[in-house]
Amino acid sequence: MLAAGETRLLRGVQEQRALGAALAQALAPGSLLFLEGELGAGKTTLTQGLLAALGFGGHVTSPTYALMQVYPVPAGQVLHVDAYRVRDVSELYEMDLDELVAGSRLSVIEWGERLYGDYPEAPIYLLEHVGGDPELRRVTRRR
Ligand SMILES: Nc1ncnc2c1ncn2[C@@H]1O[C@H](COP(=O)(O)OP(=O)(O)O)[C@@H](O)[C@H]1O
Ligand SMILES: [Mg+2]
Repeated sequence: MLAAGETRLLRGVQEQRALGAALAQALAPGSLLFLEGELGAGKTTLTQGLLAALGFGGHVTSPTYALMQVYPVPAGQVLHVDAYRVRDVSELYEMDLDELVAGSRLSVIEWGERLYGDYPEAPIYLLEHVGGDPELRRVTRRR
């Protein structure tokens, strides 16, 4: 878990997953985490580490086609949302987003910029490639 504004370099998939695990431990039940970053930046890898730390042993993918994915974990469920193809965020609220978030152990939303104002307490993590080094990612907690 980074402090707001902090940046860190992550070398390799293990460190990417470890950040997800640390976030899972740090964020209380009902919390929401926003992830930003282009394709390949490591959003799914971080989410895999987060879910593994919460006891989910199955396969984790990007939820692009499902829009929302619910993973059962011993502490309840983890909600994974990809808002990329959502035309209007009212679509998400019509799917009871508020209740789903409140009722989940943790929620992860990718491409959720349009929801940032509605969930001002939720941390935003930006993941980026680092010039030319495929084994490196930069993570910045934007708030
Ligand atoms: N910190 C890292 N260092 C090296 N490779 C990484 C790192 N994080 C993720 N990867 C690799 O980058 C690729 C894309 O990661 P992925 O998590 O699917 O990105 P996204 O979900 O943001 O599109 C995967 O092959 C993954 O193993
Ligand atoms: Mg992904």
